[in-house]
Parts: sequence; structure tokens; C-alpha cells
Amino acid sequence: MSLALQKTLESSYVMPAFGRSAVDFVSGHGMTLVGDDGREYTDFLAGIGVCCLGHGHPALTEAVTRQAEQLLHVSNYFYIEHRGQVAALLSKLANDDRDGARILADAIWAGREDEIVAAATPAEGEQVWETFFANSGAEANEGSMKLARLYAKRVGNGGNTIVCLRGGFHGRTLETIAATMQDWLQDSFKPLPGGFVACTPNDVDELTAIFDQLGSEICAVMYEPIQGESGVHPLTPEFMHAVERLAHEHGALLIADEVQTGIFRSGKPFAFQTYGVKPDIMSLAKGIAGGVPAGAVVAKKEIADVFRPGDHGSTFGGSCLAVAAAKAVLCELVRGAYDDHAAAVGAYLALKLADVPHVTEVRGSGLMVGCDLDHTMTDAHDVEAAMLEDGFVINATGAHTLRFLPPLICEQADVDALAEALAKVLA
Ligand SMILES: Cc1ncc(COP(=O)(O)O)c(C=O)c1O
Repeated sequence: MSLALQKTLESSYVMPAFGRSAVDFVSGHGMTLVGDDGREYTDFLAGIGVCCLGHGHPALTEAVTRQAEQLLHVSNYFYIEHRGQVAALLSKLANDDRDGARILADAIWAGREDEIVAAATPAEGEQVWETFFANSGAEANEGSMKLARLYAKRVGNGGNTIVCLRGGFHGRTLETIAATMQDWLQDSFKPLPGGFVACTPNDVDELTAIFDQLGSEICAVMYEPIQGESGVHPLTPEFMHAVERLAHEHGALLIADEVQTGIFRSGKPFAFQTYGVKPDIMSLAKGIAGGVPAGAVVAKKEIADVFRPGDHGSTFGGSCLAVAAAKAVLCELVRGAYDDHAAAVGAYLALKLADVPHVTEVRGSGLMVGCDLDHTMTDAHDVEAAMLEDGFVINATGAHTLRFLPPLICEQADVDALAEALAKVLA
């Protein structure tokens, strides 16, 4: 169908909640997206940080195809072959246990049950993390916040207030907008659910004052280790350690929203590992199933176990298709050491961007990189559009900020091509 007809139909029948670029991608391979006119584009957005293995990856395509042929969905009332394997692997990854994750991923990949049993049996004293499967990032955050409140009520400090950071982004449901401390996202939808307090990121004094005032009314602090939607702003290690100290002093939990930073993007399985500050609960989505909708709440077992049947649920969460895809993605990422790859190529990307004229600051970790443009430049959205004209998919998060979230298979040669094109556009 022609792009013109698609535009006509969408403008009549699809809600105008998004502005769109006039491109119709019809296929993809690796870092490349192909338009309906056969034109190729290099993808530095990956469907907003989702397609971590790139497009048309054989292992993911095969897993999804095979699962679609066998069984798509049965619901959480029944056992699903791949669900426990994915959860066990997430537990190893949450512990940043490289060897353990590798042994388990190899066993899962080969389907060797005795080896899966051996690798998945927790060692003495090993922290076990349990997973609840959801469908999206917002839904994962809803689950994380519900779990934190339930834990506080049944076991913890009895508090119900969640401290969130200004400039953060946690999703588009009413509860996750309430947690997203940005006026332009909240204002039109008031009244919002209560029980949220805002703190300025990296302001240890403000956080201390909030805890001094509210104490054990606070059941959790929720944060993105690197704020993504607002332009790739990492939290400082000092702030992260203060969050950990204050939360633990007052019996509150740490919720890391790793929806964008997680699943190897930051150069570690999860970005919290670059700070050495372990959350109690984390939310995942985006890359976890490489493009098949999926999300997850991953929590320390002693916290997760407050959930009883009926406390939380989802019809689609952890469907046969989603967990088959997640299994393929996680095994591929672990076995291919894509954390190291993202760290190395991401550092190269940051270096190359810093050399581009009119770039004033580069921020990020691994293959989650943002850069600011000086104010002599036109709006960054125009830069995004000009780059698309030149065959590169990138993203502007504000008038002066560009964001790069390429597939984790991105290579230095892709970065060289991007930096050259960007320098030309900005010249
Ligand atoms: C950090 C973070 N949390 C939550 C979300 C919401 O995820 P979803 O759009 O899958 O609901 C996003 C989406 O960009 C995100 O970046």
C-alpha cells in the first residue's frame, strides 16, 4: 500500500497522539531499515531502544517463528515452557554473575535440562531475584510500585509515598504519569493518583530534607539510573549512594526503572551495576524481547514473595510468544558478551560525537548516548529530519538535544558513518 494512502487512512482513523516522519519502513536487516521505496537507512534509534539485536536477527526470528507455529498464548493460569528459564537468567544477570549467566545461557540454548537444573540452582547465599512478566515499561513500573507498597504494608515500614525525580519518565498510565515529575506531561490529566513526592535529581540535600520530613511514610524511591526521555542525564554516583543510604535508614525500597537503560544497553546487564547500588526492585521492558512487546518486574526474592495469587495480574504478560522471544534475546546477548560490546562501541560513539562541530556536551553510558547542540543551531528536531533525509534514524529529545539508542550490534564503522553525516548536517 502506498505511503499516500496510509497517510490518508491514518489521518482519518488513527488517534493523532504522535507526530510521525513520512517514512514507511517495510523491512530491516541488522542496523539497516528499508523504506517502501527501497531506500536504506541506518538505525540509531532501534524502535526507541527496543530492537537490541537489530532487525531480522536469525536467532530471534527463528524463535518467534517457531513459537508462533506452535502456540501463541495460553495465559498465566498455566505453565509456559520458556518463562522460568528467562526468569532464572534474569536473576543471574541481576547479580552481574557473568560466568553463571553464561553457563545457564549455554545450557538453555542447548536445551540440556540437567545442565539447566545445575546452573539455575542458587549457590549458598546467592541473592535470588524473581520476575513478574508484564507487557510494557509503564506496566512494569505499575507492578514495581504496587509491589513496593504491598511490601511496606505487609512487612516493611508501612509507608505508601514514593519519591520520584524531576525530569524522569516512567510511562503514560495515570499512575506512571503521577510518578513522572514533568508538568507538561501531568497538567492535562489532573487529578492524578496521590502518594508521590518530587526531588531534584542529584540534589542530596533535597533528598535528605524529604526523608527528614516524611521518614517512614516513604515506601520507595524510584529513579532511572540515566534519565532517558529527558535527554540522557545520568544520576551521579554520590546521589545514588545517598538514595541507598537514606532509603535503608528509613526502611524504604529502591526501585530502578531500567526500562531504557537495562538489557545490556548501558554496557552492563543493568545500569545500576555501573554505580554499584543495587535496587530492591527493577522495571524492565524495551529490549527484553527484542521487539516483541514485553516488560518485567524483577525483585529480590524476599520482597517479591509478598505477592500472593490475586495481588497482581496480566492477561498477556509473559505470553508464550513474549518469553520465547525474551529467551532468544537474553541468550544471544549473554553468549555474545554484548555488555562489553555496548561499552566499547558506546565509548567510541561518545568520542566521535564530541568531535562533531556544534556539539557542546556528550552524556550517557554504553549505547545510550545523548548530546547537546550549541544555541546557534536550529532546533534539534530539524537536525533529526535532515539526518533522516541523509539515511540515518536518530532522535531529538528537546530543542537542543539529540539521543542515540542504536541496536547493540552497532559497530564502529556505523558510528563513523553517523558522525560524518551529522558533521555535514550541522556544518
Ligand atoms: C525509563 C522509562 N520508563 C518507562 C517507559 C514507558 O515504557 P512503555 O512505553 O513501554 O510503557 C519508558 C519509555 O520510553 C522509559 O524510557
